[in-house]
Amino acid sequence: MTGRICQEAERLRLAAPSPIRDLMDEVSNMKKWYDDIVSFCAGEPDFPTPEPIKRETIRALESNDTHYASSYGVPALLKIISERIERKTGCRYDSAGEIMITCGAAEAINNVLFSFLDTGDEVLIFTPAFITYKNLVLMCGAKAVEVPLKWNDNYMLDIEMVKKLTTERTRAIILNNPCNPTGAVFEESDLRKLCDWAKEKNLIIISDEIYADIVYDGKKAYSIAAFPDMKDRLILINGFSKTYAMTGWRIGYVAADRKFMDSLLKFHTYCTTCAPTFLQSGLAAGLADEETQKAVDRMIETFARRRKMALRMLSECRNLRYSVPYGAFYILVDVSETGMNGKEFSENLLKEKHVAVVPASAMGAGCESIIRISYACSSEMIKEGLSRIQIFQK
Ligand SMILES: Cc1ncc(COP(=O)(O)O)c(C=O)c1O
Repeated sequence: MTGRICQEAERLRLAAPSPIRDLMDEVSNMKKWYDDIVSFCAGEPDFPTPEPIKRETIRALESNDTHYASSYGVPALLKIISERIERKTGCRYDSAGEIMITCGAAEAINNVLFSFLDTGDEVLIFTPAFITYKNLVLMCGAKAVEVPLKWNDNYMLDIEMVKKLTTERTRAIILNNPCNPTGAVFEESDLRKLCDWAKEKNLIIISDEIYADIVYDGKKAYSIAAFPDMKDRLILINGFSKTYAMTGWRIGYVAADRKFMDSLLKFHTYCTTCAPTFLQSGLAAGLADEETQKAVDRMIETFARRRKMALRMLSECRNLRYSVPYGAFYILVDVSETGMNGKEFSENLLKEKHVAVVPASAMGAGCESIIRISYACSSEMIKEGLSRIQIFQK
């Protein structure tokens, strides 16, 4: 009797709990007992949210902008997002009806997959990947088909593999550019080929571009929205968590051709009704202040310095190999020459040196010997944590 009461729904049993969240909980717990823990786990900038956004949000709260918003979102923020996408890609998404604000990009991904996937549909996911994609696809009753990208190829897109894995049941391709966890920034020519294939096979492209502004060494993250012929099969996902150091605010969005929107809005309305109103209003007003962009530019310069430092320190590790990232704030490291797999390496490193890294095994097949390091933490942490890793890997 009791068992039935708390029996997890079958659809949820298809998904695995997030090992990153579990690890982060373990690290928080350890921090209660030890004051020297260094964590390279979280995909979250350590910076404060830019001052104008905080100031304007307090103002919105004080002026009682605290009621339900439209499920689409607050018009001022929708307009800014529409203008920004158009400026960047040349593609126009109408602020009235082609953009929807969500509680983080996470809710956007959730809304898109639950709105369009049916049992038996197949979704192509490039791996290693953000683990949310696979688990949500599974919860929808659909099949997550991994398209394994290669370490030796710096995790660039493999269009031939996409062609090989496409079947009659393939419904969508999920793309994450720049990529968490590989840091890959895809070539425009490869993206074009992927789009041509999607057109030929009548597939949706779900493009998660949450790291689009965080790129290095002169790289440009090319948006699929910049291909004018793709709008009718593209669903664009983005958000403010990473670029604006706003992970805890939970503001993201979906932009898509109007024909997708009724379904997306239906799902979103029953999930959350709307993202918090005063956060949307404050964000819109804060984005209009030029100090916000200056703060973002400083954060990206700082990420670039941290990346350089982390790569230099990793290059001094005889038993570690890394894949050079050109976007986001993660580095994948192959630990096989230490004689440990990624899980053993991360468990022992945490136990012996109090440094937390994420084993990449859940991010895709063939990632057993890989760990992920996030360099979104302070330079002091990077220096200290990597010094300990240098000693540990010998
Ligand atoms: C690729 C990718 N997409 C989406 C998200 C979710 O972002 P948000 O905080 O806006 O929900 C993350 C967060 O780590 C991510 O790495």
